[in-house]
Amino acid sequence: MKSLIAGNWKMNGIARARSEVESLIERFGGSMPGDRDILICPPVTLLAAFAGSYSDEGILFGGQDCHAKTSGAHTGDISAEMIADTGASHVIVGHSERRADHAENDQTVKEKAEAALRAGLTPIICVGETREQRETGIAQSVVGTQLEGSLPDAMGVFVVAYEPVWAIGTGLTPTLEDISEMHDFIRSKTPEGTRLLYGGSVKPGNAKEILGISNVNGALVGGASLKAEDFFPIISAAP
Ligand code: G3H
Repeated sequence: MKSLIAGNWKMNGIARARSEVESLIERFGGSMPGDRDILICPPVTLLAAFAGSYSDEGILFGGQDCHAKTSGAHTGDISAEMIADTGASHVIVGHSERRADHAENDQTVKEKAEAALRAGLTPIICVGETREQRETGIAQSVVGTQLEGSLPDAMGVFVVAYEPVWAIGTGLTPTLEDISEMHDFIRSKTPEGTRLLYGGSVKPGNAKEILGISNVNGALVGGASLKAEDFFPIISAAP
């Protein structure tokens, strides 16, 4: 399966971040490799400009969240249709930061994923356990429940990102065995062909071994996607 390396810029990046995208393209010799998918999810303020400028260079763009409704009185929210209208192809839903900061639950995430599919976007649905849940041995059942509640009923292609909450932005990662075990479990719960990403402190130094695990089909990268000098070796490490 073709790897997908996705960068989630979170609430980072203003107009000058454009130079990071250009520097990334330069590092690949002026055109991005076609044997893997490269996705950048910048803040929505940059999405239309980036999708307009760089889609022809072989980079995909995506949103970091969407509302479940198409339109209406939802001040500050962005619908999946609006994200699709920028030229984006993907949208992240259910990131643990959204689940924690905006009280999103599995039902909310499922509605967002279905809205994304209706708009023609590929949702990247995030799941993952907390440190306490890992330590008490319930990581797999927590992720199983999240999958059951968050995956869309409607048929359509989606991506699942396994992101242990305790590994996000901490420099900590599960063991390769733990990642492998969880991805095998998620594989057993998702339709054939679903791409499964690992996210949580992926860096140039650990990307190759993580991306080499069977049933890991790519990565969702936070901090290390902000600088071309870090994101380039991670993309290059994908099989
Ligand atoms: O969406 C990305 C993840 O939250 C991972 O973030 O690579 O900074 O740990 P991180």
